[in-house]
Amino acid sequence: MINEEANKNLSAIMVIFGGTGDLTQRKLMPALYNLVYDRLLPENFAVVAIGRKNKTDRQYRDEVFESINMYSRNKIDVRCWERLRDIIYYLQFDFTDQEGYEKLRHFLKELDEKYNTGGNRVFYLAVAPEYFELIVQGLSEHRLAHQNGAWTRLVIEKPFGRDLNTARRLNNKLNEVFDESSIYRIDHYLGKEMIQNIMVLRFCNTVFESLWSNKYIDNVQISLCEQNGVGTRGGYYENSGAMRDMVQNHILQILSMVAMEPPVNLKTESIRTEKLKVIQAIEDFTNEKLRNNVVFGQYGRGVIDGKPVVSYREEENIPPKSTTETFVALKLHINNFRWAGTPFYIRTGKRMGKTSSEIVIQFKELPEILYFKEGYVQVPNLLVIRIQPNVGVFFQFNTKDFSTYNDIVSTKMDTSYYNPTTGNTPEAYERLIYDILRGDATLFSRWDEVEASWIFADKIIEYRAKKKFDFPNYNAGSMGPAKAFELLAVNGRRWWEV
Ligand code: BG6
Repeated sequence: MINEEANKNLSAIMVIFGGTGDLTQRKLMPALYNLVYDRLLPENFAVVAIGRKNKTDRQYRDEVFESINMYSRNKIDVRCWERLRDIIYYLQFDFTDQEGYEKLRHFLKELDEKYNTGGNRVFYLAVAPEYFELIVQGLSEHRLAHQNGAWTRLVIEKPFGRDLNTARRLNNKLNEVFDESSIYRIDHYLGKEMIQNIMVLRFCNTVFESLWSNKYIDNVQISLCEQNGVGTRGGYYENSGAMRDMVQNHILQILSMVAMEPPVNLKTESIRTEKLKVIQAIEDFTNEKLRNNVVFGQYGRGVIDGKPVVSYREEENIPPKSTTETFVALKLHINNFRWAGTPFYIRTGKRMGKTSSEIVIQFKELPEILYFKEGYVQVPNLLVIRIQPNVGVFFQFNTKDFSTYNDIVSTKMDTSYYNPTTGNTPEAYERLIYDILRGDATLFSRWDEVEASWIFADKIIEYRAKKKFDFPNYNAGSMGPAKAFELLAVNGRRWWEV
């Protein structure tokens, strides 16, 4: 239970643009429901969902009920549902319609009084990115962006721009109305349990942090693999591809948490500053490195869970000669004292053989002086941070085999448990929405991190755009193109599937 003072500061009206959209129905509303369930939603709170379709509050609330029923991690408890139901309102207007913003302003004032929310606002833009500027402008022109003596926070879903220039332009537009401290750029991966656990594992364990460098770590692998194809999101994905969809944001955020220096304290800006330095220290991709250290893929037909599936080019809204990548693997170096010489391998793809997100830390091998002689293959120490669907930590080390005279066996310590419901779930959004209300931006990307990520991603995206690829080059249901395996094999390494 939160205390009264905290509760007062959390009081707000959350305005969701895109109230009838997929994100709101599948993630945001179930997340709000679970916050009620866990008694974390402030007492003085209301939600205004905005959509273009005409519907009454009652109709909208019924739809939300169905969504919660389907996607919430907690079953519907009548009292919790009624608590949420009664504070949800639906307002119909088109984002281009100026009168709509006036209508919104009056309505919010009414609700402020009714719910004693003190004028605090969260504007959550759960809409296609082409509407971001338009809505922010509407908020500004209709005096919705700032209230005296109250806070206003703007929440932006990805994609934040489609390259460095568009991201800068968008950021400048947002900054005309909101300052950086009021902008919350969502990266839902940061809301995941094991991503937050990276810092705890590193900075609360002598054994890990003292070995956390190029002296003891041979390589780091970050894999975000999905069995899903592009489904109904072909229109968006075709213009995005795996680089923009996963690498520029989720993967670089994870990489920066794995590789950052210990922050001076746990304050938001201290952590963000250390993360930024990692992205800035990524070694530049020369032409030679682009040729040798980058692998793109696109899935062809194949079999997933025993069922045949179509190729990317046969998916809805995808042109038959599409050159968009649905898979990327990269080898990169972080040029600083801690990491020089230790490669980071990253890969992500759709329609792969399994759905699994994990970080593998492979420690260096020992000299073969005392053990591992005479034909023994040395199995390295591995620390695996399992993000999903298994959640937890796996550690592999060597011990003597109990049953033989002197054999060495690789022993696996696994604290992880299978959680079929992890993924892009409401849970991550629960944490993130709660943090927005508390005004804690630690798990959101700061502008300079986004900027540095685009500088990195643009170079690789430009390379892909210029090059001709022989797509499709991996079968759905496989672990990606052969070249992704060669990327490690040249140095005698391999992707670990533990
Ligand atoms: C989203 C991407 O950001 O993350 C999707 O746009 C992807 O393409 C999803 O499927 C993966 O998230 P999760 O949480 O399911 O691993």
